[in-house]
Amino acid sequence: MIEFAVQTGRKAGLFIHENFGLDLKVEHKGRIDLVTRVDMQAQQIIIQEIEKHFPDHGIVAEEGIRKEKESPFVWFVDPLDGTVNYVHGIPIFCVSLALYKRDEPYLGVCYNPISGELFWAQAGKGAYLENKAVGVSHTDKLVDALIVTGFPYSSDDMQSLIGRFSRILQEVQGIRRLGSAALDLCYVACGRFDGFWESGLQSWDTAAGAVIVQEAGGRVSSFSGSVFSPLRGEIVASNSLIHEKLIGLM
Ligand code: IPD
Ligand code: CA
Ligand code: CA
Repeated sequence: MIEFAVQTGRKAGLFIHENFGLDLKVEHKGRIDLVTRVDMQAQQIIIQEIEKHFPDHGIVAEEGIRKEKESPFVWFVDPLDGTVNYVHGIPIFCVSLALYKRDEPYLGVCYNPISGELFWAQAGKGAYLENKAVGVSHTDKLVDALIVTGFPYSSDDMQSLIGRFSRILQEVQGIRRLGSAALDLCYVACGRFDGFWESGLQSWDTAAGAVIVQEAGGRVSSFSGSVFSPLRGEIVASNSLIHEKLIGLM
């Protein structure tokens, strides 16, 4: 299954790469929530592969696909995480694929076809960048921590969002906003960032990256520190060492 996920991620990634920089017609799913034919076609490539190899598996995919099956296995598919970057020609986006078994993470793959970096993890078997094992950072002080975040497409609670941002900004070394939640998580997993938080996410944004962080020795939770679920929409991910401090600021 991991080989399948890696190959499928690469196949969709190749398609996305081939179309990068083209003048695409952009449609709006919301005021600032974009979709292109590349999102749709990359998703089609992935869905076709899953249906061919694992016809009994469930699928939840961003662009309107939800197939419920008897099987305990469910795929969470974000064919293109970072669409806004993609349409602006910014090479920070990825294909994100995760497989969960009875609501427990089973594997995750995130592939940025431009950098060529493919992150993957299997439950209980560690996290990898290509064939090299990766681990979270050892930063234990917020003042040394580089944190990444993202902003939801719509928020009815702007005050809380800004409040969190302001509190964290005053304690940490810096905050970045890359524009791909799945890559944000992979970068925590390999120690580039020490922590990540975001609200208003969907299961396909976090399902793969969360497995990769956990398998790299990091921690993922809700804003209150309770058990993370990709279905909940909010996530704090870190190297574990600064986790409680981040939760305290949430
Ligand atoms: C988005 C990206 C972004 C995050 C948004 C997501 P999309 O996914 O992950 O970093 O801030 O909340 O929706 O729409 O590009 O697949
Ligand atoms: Ca996404
Ligand atoms: Ca997407």
